[in-house]
Amino acid sequence: MAAITDEMNSIVETAIAAITGAGNLDELREVKSAHVGDKSPVARANQSLGKMEAAERAEAGKVIGKARGQINEAFAARQGELERERDERVLIEERVDVTLPARRSLPGGLHPLTILTNEISDLFIGMGYRVAEGPELEAEWLNFDSLNIPADHPARTMQDTFFIEPLDSHLVLRTHTSPVQMRTMLNEEPPIYIICPGRTYRSDELDATHTPVFSQVEGLVIDKGITMADLKGTLDHFARSIFGPNVKTRLRSSFFPFTEPSAEVDFFFNGRWVEWGGCGMVNPKVLETAGIDPEVYSGFAFGMGLERTLMVRHGITDMHDIVEGDIRFSQSFGVGSR
Ligand code: FA5
Ligand code: MG
Repeated sequence: MAAITDEMNSIVETAIAAITGAGNLDELREVKSAHVGDKSPVARANQSLGKMEAAERAEAGKVIGKARGQINEAFAARQGELERERDERVLIEERVDVTLPARRSLPGGLHPLTILTNEISDLFIGMGYRVAEGPELEAEWLNFDSLNIPADHPARTMQDTFFIEPLDSHLVLRTHTSPVQMRTMLNEEPPIYIICPGRTYRSDELDATHTPVFSQVEGLVIDKGITMADLKGTLDHFARSIFGPNVKTRLRSSFFPFTEPSAEVDFFFNGRWVEWGGCGMVNPKVLETAGIDPEVYSGFAFGMGLERTLMVRHGITDMHDIVEGDIRFSQSFGVGSR
């Protein structure tokens, strides 16, 4: 009996040393399988009871049972200690400083230029127009030649146009939205009623009234019996819905290769005339290029700058405010505020 008592004492000693030596709960988990679990020395000793004689078993059972009790108790005590330590540490590490200012996430919003674009699209959709689109990287032929802008036209020189390398790709960043007119006329049969808002590019310096990346909205109508009066009436309605019911418009004789006659459209707002964009009756040469019979159909087109429209309507004096993306500009339109 002395032998088993000695053996169990040594097992208990080793187990308790390991248990108290465990520095954290992970280590304690390993100690558990080595010294407390099913394959531990004390568990094996317990299993060996089955092979003993009845007399011997009673005594050994007591000794082994006591050893198990000591080990289990030590384990439970150490586990309790380590759990308390962990809980305290977590409370400190994961403490929330409720006095810190909250991180504010502003709701997203559309840029004022996008809002204006949507407003214009809605207006024309309400009159039966369709919104057409074209690529910003455009074929030189669609941007210029097809619109009767000859190769030696000043608009084609390097100063105004961003040409894309290699130059024999004959691609440009579109300088206006008018190539969408030609794309539409080539692909569809009249009657055509479209508007095309979109981004356009010219190698202008960014200043108070110019930006190299700006936006236009193009309008195109091709139908039977369309006259300049239809153009004027449409522009009046457009201007009134954008600038208010009392706004006046005027057409000033001008020149665009793709319209004949051509005009600049101005509007009278806050006591002065402001240039808004170009317009005119679609040049019969352009209709012919598009395969539309100018004896049967006629049409008008217009193209306005959207940044300029926004500037005038809201009294913005500097183009930088529109293009630089400072969120305070958008917020002054009520965008993204709560
Ligand atoms: C055109 O671009 C013609 N395609 C308009 C047109 C369409 C005429 C259909 C006839 C029929 P223009 O180059 O004038 O025209 O430009 C039209 C408008 O774009 C200008 O009135 C101006 O509002 C705007 N714009 C032109 N360049 C810039 C720029 N660098 N920055 C901001 N707005 C600009
Ligand atoms: Mg102009």
